[in-house]
Amino acid sequence: MERKEIVKYYEKDGFRVIWKPAKCIHSEICVKTLPKVYLPDEKPWIRPEAASVQDLKDQINRCPSGALSYDTKEPEKMEDAQSAGTEIQVLPGGPLLVKGKIKLTATDGKIQETEGNTALCRCGGSKNKPFCDGSHKTLDFE
Ligand code: SF4
Ligand code: FES
Repeated sequence: MERKEIVKYYEKDGFRVIWKPAKCIHSEICVKTLPKVYLPDEKPWIRPEAASVQDLKDQINRCPSGALSYDTKEPEKMEDAQSAGTEIQVLPGGPLLVKGKIKLTATDGKIQETEGNTALCRCGGSKNKPFCDGSHKTLDFE
C-alpha cells in the first residue's frame, strides 16, 4: 500500500520548488542561506521570486534531508538526476543520508518511494521514523 505524502509547490518562471515537510530535519540551512526566500513565520513560507534560479538550485542541493527539491522544464537536468546512482553517507551525530532513488518498505508493509536526499533516523529518537526529524540534536547521540 502506498503512503500519501504531503507535498507543496512554489513556482517561479518554469522553476518549481518542491517542499516535503515530513522529511525536514530542521537543519535551517535553507533559512540561513537564503533568508529572503525562506520565511518560516510567514505564509507562504517559501518565496522563490526573492532569488535567482541558480541561487535556488545551489541552496536546494544543500538541503540535507531532501525536504526541499526542485523540478525544471530543462529535460537534460531531469535525465541527469534520474540516471544518478544511490549513495549513503553517515552524518556525524545525525542521520543516514541516502542520495538517490529508493523504495522504502516500512514494518507495516507500507511502501514509499523517494528520490534526491532522504535522511533516515540513526539515533532512534525521531517521531517520524524511519525518517530523521532533527530530534538527534536534543539527544546525547554520537
Ligand atoms: S532540512 Fe532542508 S528544508 Fe529542512 S530546514 Fe534543513 S535545509 Fe531547510
Ligand atoms: S538521526 Fe535524526 S532524529 Fe534520529
